[in-house]
Amino acid sequence: MVTMRDVAKRVGVSVATVSRVLNDSGYVKEDTRKTVLAAIEEMNFKPNSVARSLFKKQSKTIGLIVPDINNPFFPQLARAVEDVTSEADFTVFLCNSDGKIEKEIRYFDRLQQKYVDGVLVVSNTLKPEHLSQYHFPIIALDRPLDSSLPYVTCNNYEGAQKATRHLLECGCGKIAHISGPENIANARDRLQGYKDVVSEVGLYDENLIIPAEYQIESAKRAAFKLLTNYPDIDGIFAGNDVMAIGVIKAAELLGYKVPEQLKVVGFDGIEFGDIITPELTTVSQPVYQMGSTAAAMLLDLIEGKPIHQKEITFQVELLVKRSTQT
Ligand code: RIB
Repeated sequence: MVTMRDVAKRVGVSVATVSRVLNDSGYVKEDTRKTVLAAIEEMNFKPNSVARSLFKKQSKTIGLIVPDINNPFFPQLARAVEDVTSEADFTVFLCNSDGKIEKEIRYFDRLQQKYVDGVLVVSNTLKPEHLSQYHFPIIALDRPLDSSLPYVTCNNYEGAQKATRHLLECGCGKIAHISGPENIANARDRLQGYKDVVSEVGLYDENLIIPAEYQIESAKRAAFKLLTNYPDIDGIFAGNDVMAIGVIKAAELLGYKVPEQLKVVGFDGIEFGDIITPELTTVSQPVYQMGSTAAAMLLDLIEGKPIHQKEITFQVELLVKRSTQT
């Protein structure tokens, strides 16, 4: 393997000069710089990225911390982040936190040890005091954090209103909501959007709201309970798409026909929504755009460029499919 020492020997300069050329730091005569670069190319020298990051305290890497990559929302987000950052020659470390603060902090520590240049994090628990010790730019993605961190999210409250109004327009008279985890702000916003719309038309009933996890099985159990206790429910707004899939599964087990007897709406717009039967009506977030926008912002911060908008909230769109057909 060709080393920096070999390149220096070939050109007749010191190792320090080669290092200065590689790291674009310190003074090197223009002729020497060109000769060193030509030798690097000719000898096919690949600088050791670990050594470079130790020297420059920079690594051309970023961290992406998500709760659970098994949820199809997050691969779509991760794909966007990777597309944008790899264009800029960055590599992404993917970390699954399971939504646990201890894991999030452990990953932040590890990422700092690896000299990452920045981190995108999807979290609902981190506070400013947890993050003040990290000296790289951080952006909150999907879930704004209780701090001055820049963030990219979507309008969860309005999305939930759109979903609930749509169920009303479809003629549903008993609309339930299986809400996402109470400790996640976007789940609370979606719940509030639902509550405000059913209250406006005098259909609010707290018994028709059950919290569950952002997971199929947990939502399936919640839907089973709801539909067993209130068999005349004719519309369910689920906290997200995987939960809506759980609702459709529970309805199927209980012998309901979706959409004839029960209409279901999800939230997110994951691709799986089009694969299941019936295809899922959903409030679609511009997931790819959210991921790519956050990644571009992070790259700007890494390069020390100012960002003009620190808080970005994307609009959402109701996509009507078979699960609410009239
Ligand atoms: O499906 C994962 C959920 O968690 C999504 O609804 C997204 O908004 C995230 O917060």
